[in-house]
Amino acid sequence: MDAKAEDGVTNLDNSARGFVYLVGAGPGDPELLTLKGARVLREADVILYDDLVSSELLALFSALKIYTGKRKESHHLEQEAINEEILRHAREGKIVARLKGGDPFMFGRGGEEIEALRNNGIGYEIIPGISAAHGASAYTELPLTMRHISSSVAFCTGHPVRHLQVPDTDTIVYYMVASTLHEVLDAVALKGRDEKTPVAVVQNATRYNQKIITGTLGEMRQGVHPVSSPALLIIGANILHSIEDNWYSRKKKVLIAGEDSERYRAATMVKLYFYGKKSEDADQSASGGFEQEEHLELDFVDELYFSSPGCVRDFHTFYPTLPDKILVTTVDETTEGEYIKLFKREIVV
Ligand SMILES: C[S@@+](CC[C@H](N)C(=O)[O-])C[C@H]1O[C@@H](n2cnc3c(N)ncnc32)[C@H](O)[C@@H]1O
Repeated sequence: MDAKAEDGVTNLDNSARGFVYLVGAGPGDPELLTLKGARVLREADVILYDDLVSSELLALFSALKIYTGKRKESHHLEQEAINEEILRHAREGKIVARLKGGDPFMFGRGGEEIEALRNNGIGYEIIPGISAAHGASAYTELPLTMRHISSSVAFCTGHPVRHLQVPDTDTIVYYMVASTLHEVLDAVALKGRDEKTPVAVVQNATRYNQKIITGTLGEMRQGVHPVSSPALLIIGANILHSIEDNWYSRKKKVLIAGEDSERYRAATMVKLYFYGKKSEDADQSASGGFEQEEHLELDFVDELYFSSPGCVRDFHTFYPTLPDKILVTTVDETTEGEYIKLFKREIVV
């Protein structure tokens, strides 16, 4: 490929043993990938990706994609096996992009993967990513530090509970709290934090299904708050006002089934895509043939657009019913007809 040939350094390092880029994918919104990360993913032969790398982002790149995540319910690879997999591809002389959610060095086990590369004489570069904490901070209008209110911030893990730490910083961000929220809140209270300290849980930060739960430390300890992964817990007086009403929540969330349409502009709305499975008349070029892996939470979608009758059929096999609040639009009358036939709903103009 031209891009590779132009890159003298990559060619040099790639000549014998391949080369590995450890890349931070950012917290979810595909546009939060760095320019350098995007360049490397375009040039890569293989992308080994983790949990929490969004399918929208993966769909932008044509390299072979291999899932190495650790979701409990599906097949998973232990860290050593992941290291081996990275080494195997590099030894075959490939350009490997090891893609991790957020930043690879923030609770990402990037250190262990780099150590394996170092020990085996494989060349590498590390490309940072926007961490979930920074993504959540920006997409909920919650500054992690704030003059006169918060002059220190700590990033901690909420799991496993035996490793819980409660640092004496103004703001604390806890990662991995989905199953340990109450234990973490109790530990923070036990350490002497005022029960009136504001608390926010941010689920799916920077994604169309971002959800924020707020309260005081005392209230959150009393209540029952089902939290699903990925979620962060942020504690501190800098959570000043109702952060649920933020610039990101005010954007319309549009789901595009099929080919994109010029009527939707990314600057004013959040666009997400349904790729479904390959079908005859659905243009899959935008997805690079990538099949949808994650289940879309349609309750967070405001508008749904179908670009062909095939897309309607495809979508219907995945999601046979739609929440009432979704506004549906179609590219033409034939597509509209297919939609009415399958979903038994009229288009509301
Ligand atoms: C293994 S850690 C990876 C962290 C990642 N390397 C980073 O820099 O953000 C996984 C945890 O990150 C947090 N996380 C990742 N993406 C998130 C998101 N979009 N919204 C909220 N939390 C997220 C959750 O706490 C999740 O359990």
